[in-house]
Amino acid sequence: MYFRAFTLCLEFYILYYGVVASENQCKIKDLVADCSHLKLSNIPSDLPVNITVLNLSHNQLKSLPASVLSTYNQLRALDSGYNVITKIDENLCKALPFLHMLGLEHNQLSHLSVHYFPYCSNLTELYLQFNRIKEITGDPFKSLQELMVLDVSHNKLVSGKLGTQLQLEKLQRLALSANKITQLRNNDFDFLKNTTLYQLDLSSNKLTEFEPNCFHTLGSLHVLVLDNVLLHPNATEQLSQALSGTDIIELSLRNTHLKIQANTFAGLNKTNLISLDLSNNKLTTLQGNPFQWLHDLENLYLENNSISHISRKTFAGLENLKCLNLKKGLRGQGSQPDAESLIDDYSFQGLKNLVQLNLEDNSIAGIRAHTFSGLTSLKYLSLYNCLVDLKTVRNETFVSLAESPLVNLNLTKTKISKLQHGAFSWFKKLKKLDIGLNSIAQTLTGEEFRGLNEVEEIYLSYNSKLILISSSFVHVPSMKVLMLSKSNIVSLNSQPSPFDPLQNLTVLDLSNNNLANLDKDVFRELRQLQVLKLQHNNLARLWKGINPGGPVLYLNSMTELQMLDLQSNGLDELPEKAFQGLYKLSVLDLSSNNLNILPGVVFNDLQSLKLLHMQKNLITSVEKDVFNQAFNNLTALYMGFNPFDCTCESISWFVTWLNKTNSSIPDLKSQYICNTPPSYHNRTVVAFDISPCKDVAPFAGAFIISSSFILGIIFTVFLIQFQGWRLEFYWNFSVNRIFGFREIDHQEIQFEYDAYIIHAKNDIDWVNNYLLPLEQHDQTMFQFCLEERDSEVGISELESIVRSISQSRKIIFVMTQELLKDPWCRRFKVHQAMQQAIQQSRDAIILIFLHDIPDYKLHQMLCLRRGMFKSHCILAWPAQHERIPAFHQKLKVALGSSNQVQ
Ligand SMILES: *[C@@H]1O[C@H](CO)[C@@H](O)[C@H](O)[C@H]1NC(C)=O
Ligand SMILES: *[C@@H]1O[C@H](CO)[C@@H](O)[C@H](O)[C@H]1NC(C)=O
Ligand SMILES: *[C@@H]1O[C@H](CO)[C@@H](O)[C@H](O)[C@H]1NC(C)=O
Ligand SMILES: *[C@@H]1O[C@H](CO)[C@@H](O)[C@H](O)[C@H]1NC(C)=O
Ligand SMILES: *[C@@H]1O[C@H](CO)[C@@H](O)[C@H](O)[C@H]1NC(C)=O
Ligand SMILES: *[C@@H]1O[C@H](CO)[C@@H](O)[C@H](O)[C@H]1NC(C)=O
Ligand SMILES: *[C@@H]1O[C@H](CO)[C@@H](O)[C@H](O)[C@H]1NC(C)=O
Ligand SMILES: *[C@@H]1O[C@H](CO)[C@@H](O)[C@H](O)[C@H]1NC(C)=O
Repeated sequence: MYFRAFTLCLEFYILYYGVVASENQCKIKDLVADCSHLKLSNIPSDLPVNITVLNLSHNQLKSLPASVLSTYNQLRALDSGYNVITKIDENLCKALPFLHMLGLEHNQLSHLSVHYFPYCSNLTELYLQFNRIKEITGDPFKSLQELMVLDVSHNKLVSGKLGTQLQLEKLQRLALSANKITQLRNNDFDFLKNTTLYQLDLSSNKLTEFEPNCFHTLGSLHVLVLDNVLLHPNATEQLSQALSGTDIIELSLRNTHLKIQANTFAGLNKTNLISLDLSNNKLTTLQGNPFQWLHDLENLYLENNSISHISRKTFAGLENLKCLNLKKGLRGQGSQPDAESLIDDYSFQGLKNLVQLNLEDNSIAGIRAHTFSGLTSLKYLSLYNCLVDLKTVRNETFVSLAESPLVNLNLTKTKISKLQHGAFSWFKKLKKLDIGLNSIAQTLTGEEFRGLNEVEEIYLSYNSKLILISSSFVHVPSMKVLMLSKSNIVSLNSQPSPFDPLQNLTVLDLSNNNLANLDKDVFRELRQLQVLKLQHNNLARLWKGINPGGPVLYLNSMTELQMLDLQSNGLDELPEKAFQGLYKLSVLDLSSNNLNILPGVVFNDLQSLKLLHMQKNLITSVEKDVFNQAFNNLTALYMGFNPFDCTCESISWFVTWLNKTNSSIPDLKSQYICNTPPSYHNRTVVAFDISPCKDVAPFAGAFIISSSFILGIIFTVFLIQFQGWRLEFYWNFSVNRIFGFREIDHQEIQFEYDAYIIHAKNDIDWVNNYLLPLEQHDQTMFQFCLEERDSEVGISELESIVRSISQSRKIIFVMTQELLKDPWCRRFKVHQAMQQAIQQSRDAIILIFLHDIPDYKLHQMLCLRRGMFKSHCILAWPAQHERIPAFHQKLKVALGSSNQVQ
């Protein structure tokens, strides 16, 4: 036992010194070494040699010496970005033959030499952005036969010409953005003639000229990005001419100050352009039919523009368009920010294939009888936050969408105040209708939703005032999700319940309604319901015992329910049967209520509970009878901010559970605080010491024992009172006999010290004040060994401890809480001392208790027990000053007497 503890300590010791001795602070996990942000000026040489990824970014490296890196010749990726590297070692890739990724971004390379990458033929990604490269000469990339990604953006290049001979056969992506390139000449990209380049990024250059054949050598170019390039109208035309006949598929011209004229995109009619992004351009007019050339276009992005007028010609010719994004793209000509722009009737007539139309965040003059006519494929329409002045949605409002097979209609924040009968009757295929965040105030009779034969989700949250009656949802029985949060629904007591037709409903949100009145059967037919949100209502009265007719058990029979939110309802009572039958419930939120005492069986059916939220209630005790079942399978418990009563009766079961559970309990230390009793006030629940509670259970037994003990004492007192002299005589007689028979049967070894003192660092003052004075005492001269004072120089600490202990006749433990907490070193000393005492069969240990330390703690921390020692070797430091001389006397006795005893 002691031997095992000793070797354990030794292992700690070695581990501790082993870690300290290693100088680098890189984080190593599996085969990845992260040495970033360490202010390194040299590459660490003591990393595991088999690492495959090395991150050296954000340091102060000036170079990457191949000689050092050759140690790590298994590297696949080397990130040396954010350093001050000015040149590259010719042999870098020779030393790292498997290198695939080399990051050199944010360094100080000012030119690239032919000698930089000659052996890098296995490299697939090279990052050189944010350096100072002005010019590239002599074909530095010639050997990079496998390179797929090359990033030279944010440098000072004036030309896209990165080489003179054919090279980079495998290149796929080339980033040249944010350089100083002003023109693209016909032969600039000749060096890429034989590549499979598909993406070229030239954004943020000051390009003014595109020579007619500049892109023609790039046979497989699919994606061209020219964002933030200020394009003069002539340059835009040149660009589309230069792209004519290429394989271009995606063109991005965001924020280019684009002006679109009749012929701007004419050159693109000999391409198969699929995506065109013209967002962020302040476009105001789209004259003529500017997109007529783009027969194959499928996606057109016009986000964030100021287009004031859309006419029948604007989108003519886009017969293949699938997605049109006009979010925040329209703006009237008036000076107000929300001036209305005009959409002519039949403007979308030609868009036979359009599936998705986004008109969010616009201000439109109105929806007329033919605004959306012709959109025969439209499935998704969003008018979110669109000032269309809908006010009342009448049965004709959306007549122009009658031919559209609409699936999603988003009318959030469109200022609707009333829904008339048949408002959505055109949408036979609609699945999702969002009319939240409006100001609808009406009784829902059910006729509003007539015709929504396939609808599955309706969002009605955040409206002004909704009154539900029995027929409210009779026309939408296919509904699965119904959101009715914050719509001022104060009562749900019509019979039959408005929800009775919704037999397939799985999610119902009734939160934030100030709801105070529920019929007992309101959810009776919701047999498929999985999520029920009732938080922030006023449901406390329904569950009170004093409620006339008893508590309203509105949750019964919801056998599929998985998530129930009852947060902030003022609940102060839970009826015994509140959650009866909720066998599948896995999330229960009861937080921010006033719950205190709970009935014992209330959680008994919640066998599937995974998350329980009960924070911010008035819970004082957490008892087994109530919570045992609920806590059984929990993955997480949230029960902080309750006024826990830290007494054995209230929380000892809880603390025991906390100690052994695998459930996660976030913020256990900080949020679970004792309120009572005063001695534990403001202390964390986990600090509650349950060891005294163990005696509480067999209380009766304890009572019998202690009362017999007291009777025994009384008897003894009487006996001494009347027969004292006789007893004293027998006592002395026996003692003398025992001492008389005792022999000293072995020679005392010569010790250098009388006692070796083991104490915690913080207790040195006590040792100096109360132990060391004994060394100078008149008659009895003691010599103590104190590690700080007497350890021999020149030998290791470990060896010194072992030697000092073996040269001391006695070992004094100064027992304090600090000593228990003290790390390995004291523990090591303790075990070493025990080891020695046991080996030499010496009864050599003296315990001085400065604090009251329970025996179980002593055992737990140091594997010691009071019972292991002679009683005269266990001393307690007296609280009263006048008793100190007596203590010293006892100590001297303990120090002196023990020598002979074995
Ligand atoms: C890598 O080397 C370390 C020793 O440096 C070794 O412990 C580890 O098992 C090795 N990992 C692999 C995957 O070879
Ligand atoms: C490239 O990697 C292969 C293994 O994937 C290796 O055999 C070869 O030597 C490497 N080439 C160079 C030039 O280092
Ligand atoms: C072009 O690349 C192909 C393979 O990708 C290769 O066979 C051919 O030799 C290359 N042509 C030139 C001129 O390098
Ligand atoms: C743009 O092109 C027109 C004719 O095509 C020409 O007259 C005009 O000077 C050009 N403008 C610029 C700035 O090059
Ligand atoms: C491109 O436009 C011209 C007229 O400007 C037209 O003659 C030609 O057919 C169009 N080409 C394609 C492929 O549409
Ligand atoms: C629209 O409602 C009016 C009455 O408000 C009715 O006369 C008309 O028939 C309805 N139209 C349709 C298509 O339901
Ligand atoms: C409606 O659009 C808004 C904004 O894009 C979005 O947040 C919301 O989720 C959409 N509603 C539905 C039901 O998709
Ligand atoms: C409810 O769901 C079932 C199974 O998905 C389906 O067969 C039934 O038609 C649905 N009921 C309604 C009214 O849509």
